[in-house]
Order: sequence, then C-alpha cells, then structure tokens
Amino acid sequence: MEHKKIIIAIDGYSSTGKSTVAKQLAKALKYIYVDTGAMYRAITLFAMRKDIINESGFDQEKLEKALPEIRIEFKINTTTGIAEVWLNGENVEQEIRTLAVSNYVSPIAAVSAVRKKLVEQQVQLGKEKGIVMDGRDIGTVVFPDAELKLFMTATAKDRAERRFLELQERGEDVTYEDVLKNVVNRDHIDSTRKDSPLRKASDAIQIDNSTLTLKDQFDHILKLAQTVINNKD
Ligand code: DC
Repeated sequence: MEHKKIIIAIDGYSSTGKSTVAKQLAKALKYIYVDTGAMYRAITLFAMRKDIINESGFDQEKLEKALPEIRIEFKINTTTGIAEVWLNGENVEQEIRTLAVSNYVSPIAAVSAVRKKLVEQQVQLGKEKGIVMDGRDIGTVVFPDAELKLFMTATAKDRAERRFLELQERGEDVTYEDVLKNVVNRDHIDSTRKDSPLRKASDAIQIDNSTLTLKDQFDHILKLAQTVINNKD
C-alpha cells in the first residue's frame, strides 16, 4: 500500500538549523522543501533595491502598493537538486542571504499585506501535501492542520556562532557581535509583532538542538515523521 503524504511544518527562532533539517527530511521522504524565510527575504531585497527601506526609514505604503509587481518563484537548481528562490525572473538565492537583508527582513515580515500575499502562495504550494515547509508561522497560521509540527530552539549564542561561520565561509565581512545582535533583534521583532508572531503551536514537538548533533537530530526527526506517515490511514 502506498503511504499517504503529509505536511511537515517546521518553525522556530532564526538560525536554529530549521532549513538543514527540512532539506534532509524532504530528501529522505522525497517531499518538496519550501523555505518561506527566503520569500520574506526576496521581498526585502526588492524593497532595498527600490529604496523603500534603507537606513533612514521604511515606506510601508509604497511597499504595499508595489506588492502586485512582486513575483516570487522557486525553481530547482539542476546541479544541487535544491529549490532556489527567484524574484521577478532573477535568481536571488545568494543575494537574499546577506546580513544586510537579514537586518531589514523583520520589519518587512511584520507587514500584514506582505504576510497575506506570501501565506496564500504557501497554502497553494502545500495543496498536494508531500511537503516540508519551514518558517515562523507554518504550524500556527499556514498549515494549522499539519500532521507533524516541529518547533526548533537553541541558545542565541549557539545560533549566532553557526550563522557567523556560514557568513564567513561565504566571504562576508562581518563580526560575531553584529551577527549576535541581528539574531537577538530578529527574535524580538518576530515574536512580538502583531500579525502571526513566532510561537510554538500547542501541538508542536519542541526540539532543542544546542546539545544534539546534526545526525542525532535528523535520526530523531525522521523517526517521528515515519511514525506519523505509517499511522496515517
Ligand atoms: O528563516 P529566515 O531567517 O530566513 O527568515 C527571515 C525572516 O523572515 C525572519 O526573521 C522572519 C521572517 N519570516 C516570517 O516572518 N515568517 C516566516 N514564515 C518565515 C520567515
């Protein structure tokens, strides 16, 4: 008998390794992986390029007016097999990962019109199930009925160290202190905003990966997913 496909929702603080686990799970289960943070980052990049957000402020009304012009798509990179994000026909997968984008993304993600646009697209992407989606509101807002919900946490220090090494590897000129500040600041804005604040869904399983190795964490989560899939009728 063929197993029924499920929706796996992964939420949690920034740099808790959500995307690493989500990618591993999607690969093992042959599911689609959707990185919703990349969608908020792509809109942020659009706003930065149009000077809608910069050091002197954020013109929210201008962004809301421009939203219909923004087209976000995921396309599979045929070399890596992983979906990358495209903004109005341009591959922006690398550019959205800079600290500059991370520094502006939380105010953009707090705008209800932005969330509405992206949540609609995310719901469509999950229509056929067989999907692993990570973000901040996946188990609470996008897929409140997801069959498996995970909530990832780790200390701010662990997370900042991880993100710092990633950015350094990519050749970005950043300090650990700047990265830590960004992580703490984003956590604060993401969990205190009015619309869809980051919180653990009551039926989500919490995973603290400060102490788990990547392999132990993955083995544990894959087992959880397989149990849910096997018990689905
Ligand atoms: O997962 P990430 O760090 O790439 O996400 C970037 C930002 O986007 C994060 O600080 C908050 C926002 N975000 C959100 O509000 N809702 C989501 N589902 C995903 C990301």
